[in-house]
Amino acid sequence: MVRSSNDVRCRGGRLMQIAVCPGSFDPVTNGHLDVFERASSLAEEVVVAVLINNSKASLFTVEERIELLREVVADFGNIRVDSFHGLLVDYCQAHGITAIIKGLRAVSDFDYELQMAQMNYRLAGVETMFITTNPLYSFLSSSLVKEVAKFGGDVSGLVPEAVLNRLQQRLSATMDPQG
Ligand code: PNS
Repeated sequence: MVRSSNDVRCRGGRLMQIAVCPGSFDPVTNGHLDVFERASSLAEEVVVAVLINNSKASLFTVEERIELLREVVADFGNIRVDSFHGLLVDYCQAHGITAIIKGLRAVSDFDYELQMAQMNYRLAGVETMFITTNPLYSFLSSSLVKEVAKFGGDVSGLVPEAVLNRLQQRLSATMDPQG
């Protein structure tokens, strides 16, 4: 294969050494999973990093989200799961991560993502790459999954099987018997 002089592939043949896919993942959806899978073919190693944010109410604890993520990425040899608090760029610098990979679902995601990408580059020179979400999942978000599931809607096919089970357990346990 002919390579141009500005070929940016690293020694192992992929574009990047270590990339991070950050997020809340409350819970992980099939849209996230699609991004992880595609990121895993671009980077030698992908770290899925769960933000520890105690000020934001969540359905699943960070430990539960990590457990679910580990279960759903178990078949990928080059994806691991971790958590972080504080600035993402500090986590990147501490772990030798030079790129952030995120999914972009629609134009509505773009403004905020652009702002964050530029800020992260300004703070620490960490690059952000966007993967355009699989159109099958472009409407999908963790919040919407939780809302639909809470009111009894069918979210199968939108989240991994392990998440579906946990979601049903959690929502039936928290359901108010008075309605
Ligand atoms: O899944 P989310 O909640 O949309 O993910 C947002 C996340 C975790 C990627 C973003 O909030 C983040 O990077 N937070 C860490 C704090 C930080 O670095 N803030 C400055 C961003 S420029």
